[in-house]
Amino acid sequence: MPGLLAHADLVEGFGDRIRAAFAHRGRAVDLLLLPPAPDERLDDDALAAVELACFTGEWRTDPVFTRRFFGALLRAPNLRWVHLPNAGVDDPVFARLLARGVRLTTSSAAKGEPIAQSAIAGLLAIARGFPAWSDAQRRREWRPHEPAPPDLRGQAMVVVGVGSIGGAVARIARAIGLRVVGVRRSPRRADDPVDEIVPPARLGEVAAAADWLVLACPLVAETRGLVDAALLGRLPRGAGLVNVARGAVVDEPALVAALRSGHLRGAYLDVFAEEPLPARSPLWELPGVIVTPHDAGASAGNAGRVAGLFLDNLDRWLSGAPLVGEVASGDGAG
Ligand code: OXD
Repeated sequence: MPGLLAHADLVEGFGDRIRAAFAHRGRAVDLLLLPPAPDERLDDDALAAVELACFTGEWRTDPVFTRRFFGALLRAPNLRWVHLPNAGVDDPVFARLLARGVRLTTSSAAKGEPIAQSAIAGLLAIARGFPAWSDAQRRREWRPHEPAPPDLRGQAMVVVGVGSIGGAVARIARAIGLRVVGVRRSPRRADDPVDEIVPPARLGEVAAAADWLVLACPLVAETRGLVDAALLGRLPRGAGLVNVARGAVVDEPALVAALRSGHLRGAYLDVFAEEPLPARSPLWELPGVIVTPHDAGASAGNAGRVAGLFLDNLDRWLSGAPLVGEVASGDGAG
């Protein structure tokens, strides 16, 4: 009987639906919990039965459990498919699983909206001058902006990556009056929520007219170090940066220099070259910089949405249909 490795929460909440999906096709499934019991490891027979897995844990806030879960997956010789709560798959464990022929599906759609809301909240805070107001508040000073910040309506945003996250950022940005240019390898589709799509080769050109550069792309060879001193230098003076992609997309010392010189007016950063962001990093204290702890996607509804995506894919898996959100090699794994 095939085994599905999952957490107690998935099995408690959706075990009947999972069993019913198998039963519908005349099959049974063994729902294997991790941990089987505190301090217990799955034995070799249990691991040999694991064919599929759904990870609904918290990748960053529960690193011990995460290590345990993926350690078990790496030891499961018959594993064929893992569903992930992640949007990005740049952790090396994913490349190891893909290299073994294990199929991976992600849940970008579950988190796209909360991440986009955080990205826009950071952008609005910088655009409307909240960092300066908050500093004055902490000092109990009544300090109106002088000069007033520029109008946001009519400003230009360049979004690198127009997937679930970049697309949701673009939709909200256009609703508040920004003109949005998306940067993506594939050509424009009728339902793209942007004013224009350009290929990555034109990033330098469109950056020269951007008030905001928003990074929502996967970390792959082409995006590692993409935002370097040269690209930052092409942004007009006074532009702002939002990074909800990966820290390694940006050359961090070049970013610090651009912020210190005033070339950039501010940045909202959820991701960093080193995480947790070291206490010695100047980014903690630079004026106009908002730092969040790789937490832009935190939202109470994510777990339910991840389970929904998994159940939908489970039906596809059982009927041999293509899986939604499947990672192809080259999508940034490892
Ligand atoms: C992810 C994230 O899901 O960074 O990849 O939160």
